[in-house]
Amino acid sequence: MPVHDVVLCLESVSKRYLLGKTVVDALRGVDFSVRKGEFVAIMGPSGSGKSTLLGILGLLDKPTGGKVFIDGSDATSLGDDKVSLLRARTIGFVFQFFFLVPSLTALENVVLPLMFLNVERGERERLASNALERVGLSGRMHHRPSELSGGERQRCAIARALVTNPSFILADEPTGNLDSKTGKEIMNLFKELNAEGKTIVAVTHDEAIASYAERVIHLRDGLVEEGGKGKHASKLVMKRTLKK
Ligand SMILES: Nc1ncnc2c1ncn2[C@@H]1O[C@H](COP(=O)(O)OP(=O)(O)OP(=O)(O)O)[C@@H](O)[C@H]1O
Ligand SMILES: [Mg+2]
Repeated sequence: MPVHDVVLCLESVSKRYLLGKTVVDALRGVDFSVRKGEFVAIMGPSGSGKSTLLGILGLLDKPTGGKVFIDGSDATSLGDDKVSLLRARTIGFVFQFFFLVPSLTALENVVLPLMFLNVERGERERLASNALERVGLSGRMHHRPSELSGGERQRCAIARALVTNPSFILADEPTGNLDSKTGKEIMNLFKELNAEGKTIVAVTHDEAIASYAERVIHLRDGLVEEGGKGKHASKLVMKRTLKK
């Protein structure tokens, strides 16, 4: 069982995709845990299983084998409705291509996760404007995604991830579609959110981006690379945050 300050934990997680006769073992027995308040980067070559791992950690996808613990409870034993609710309440996602709804304004996009949680209308708008203000977009609330820059779109997506006050932010290549200066601004925003107490796991190809995290995990061919065996293998690649 996970130790008490471990808030996200994968135990022997495997994921097998079957496409016709093709078998892909995207994850092959991953042990990985995140402690409360950590900022972890996941690196690895294309196809090594990073997005698969993040999707399982964020309850978007189910493992073929192994267990997923969120805040100490075994998510793999919950029914679909309970999993959706747990995900909506505790996890905020940020993606490379933002996934904003093009026809809605920034404010309306950020309101969406609160509708799923049945938050009352006035409160929804208050929380959404606070979240947009937090990411520096108070002057862009009524703009549609096409009227925002790439960095602003990602800030809007981060506001949408923050609006439910989740414990965790999971980000898949959050700077992959941004120039390097804008990417750094986004990573500095994640650092601030981490300093305010959010636990953050971010997937990236980029060493410079990974250096914002306090710990880096390397995946290769569906396995945590260093050490291979044992739950604490990832500590071998633990490194301190570089001063920015
Ligand atoms: N839905 C799916 N069906 C079948 N195979 C899949 C599916 N999703 C991923 N895979 C396969 O699983 C492996 C891991 O994919 P994943 O997307 O996790 O890699 P990744 O490390 O995120 O790569 P990238 O850096 O290119 O985003 C790949 O070989 C991929 O082709
Ligand atoms: Mg990926």
